[in-house]
Amino acid sequence: MDRKILARKALDMRKFSYAPYSGFRVGAALLTADGKLYTGCNIENAAYTPTNCAERTAFFKAVSEGERNFQAIAIAGGPEGAKEPLELCSPCGVCRQVMMEFCDPETFEVILVRSEEEYQVYLLKELFPQGFGPGNLKESGDRR
Ligand code: THU
Repeated sequence: MDRKILARKALDMRKFSYAPYSGFRVGAALLTADGKLYTGCNIENAAYTPTNCAERTAFFKAVSEGERNFQAIAIAGGPEGAKEPLELCSPCGVCRQVMMEFCDPETFEVILVRSEEEYQVYLLKELFPQGFGPGNLKESGDRR
C-alpha cells in the first residue's frame, strides 16, 4: 500500500482522538504484512495514566483480531485545530517497545506524517536501537 494512503488515514484518524486533557490529537494507521489496515487514535482518561496512544490502539486492535505480522505504521499528531502540515509526532517509548514485540526492527517502517505529501520514514531499529524484544528471551531459553 502506498505510504501516501497510510499518511492520509493517520491524519484522518485524528478526528476520533479523545484528548480532552492534552488537546493533542493523534491518529495512526497500521499496515499488516498481508496488506490489511488497522487504525487508531489516542484515548485519554481523567485518571491520566490509563491513556492509550494512537499507535497502541492500532496495535491492540490488530493483535486482538489475530494479526501478528506488520510492515508499517503511519503516525500523525498535533494540537487540536492544527493545520497541515503538522509538526512531526514521534512515538513514545512505550509504543516503541510494543512495536518491538510484534515487528522486525530491521524492516518495520515508522512513517511520521506532516501531511499527505510530507512525511519521514524510519526503520524501527533507527528509533529504537538495541531494543529488547522476544528474540532476547528465546536466546536465553524459552520457558513458556
Ligand atoms: N500520544 C500518542 O497518541 N502518540 C504519540 O506518538 C505521542 C503521544 C498521545 C498521548 C496523549 O493522549 C497525548 O498524545 C499527549 O501526550
